[in-house]
Amino acid sequence: MDASNATLYCAVTLDGVTAAVVYKPVRGERPLWDFPDGTLAGREVSAYLVSQATGWDVVPPTVMREGPFGPGMCQLWVDVDESVDLAALARSDHPDLQRMAVFDAVVNNADRKGGHLLPWPDGRVQGVDHGICFSHEDKLRTLLWQWRGLPLPDEAVEVLSSVRAQLEGPLGEALHELLTRREVHATKARVDRLLTSRRFPEPSPDWPAIPWPPF
Ligand SMILES: Nc1ncnc2c1ncn2[C@@H]1O[C@H](COP(=O)(O)OP(=O)(O)OP(=O)(O)O)[C@@H](O)[C@H]1O
Ligand SMILES: [Mg+2]
Repeated sequence: MDASNATLYCAVTLDGVTAAVVYKPVRGERPLWDFPDGTLAGREVSAYLVSQATGWDVVPPTVMREGPFGPGMCQLWVDVDESVDLAALARSDHPDLQRMAVFDAVVNNADRKGGHLLPWPDGRVQGVDHGICFSHEDKLRTLLWQWRGLPLPDEAVEVLSSVRAQLEGPLGEALHELLTRREVHATKARVDRLLTSRRFPEPSPDWPAIPWPPF
């Protein structure tokens, strides 16, 4: 109810199996000055595809679906561990967050708030709300700066090399269906930059590097 766009809690059913989901119809997207209208759902699905390409599983399953208010993104609902202190989690060195920091640099996440971290009861952490990712302009805005400027783990370098290769194949083709050519090109360029520097990005002085409000 406190969401800025139409964000609905729904159920999906197939063959007698029901799951809770978040559904964000394209029609419910609030216009933004810095992103083209009607593209946020496609960015959410794109973020899921990149998460799958990393193998890190940092985003709950997300697809485009025709729902009661037209096409939109549909994402599996995660029953989070409510006892987790998100402020403490966001500052921690949890390995899932370290991976998420690399993922956010790839997708150019402009909105990694504390409330967008979902702590699973089993200790894993996933992230949500990727509607303002993939701008062709650098906009990385996140709470996860604890690794800024540090060398990337070897595993991250391997994963980034794999993602770079996948961007030339079916992953790139799938993103072209959802994003502009310039945005897909910029995604490849961001991966190239990370593979060249082999370091976590640093906050830029050119734009606010921390989301507001942060939670
Ligand atoms: N898949 C999910 N599983 C569990 N909780 C979720 C999921 N997606 C979103 N939420 C919860 O719902 C809140 C609102 O969702 P989200 O941030 O994606 O929507 P929004 O329209 O961008 O809202 P806001 O403007 O508040 O950021 C999230 O902060 C999170 O607490
Ligand atoms: Mg949000």
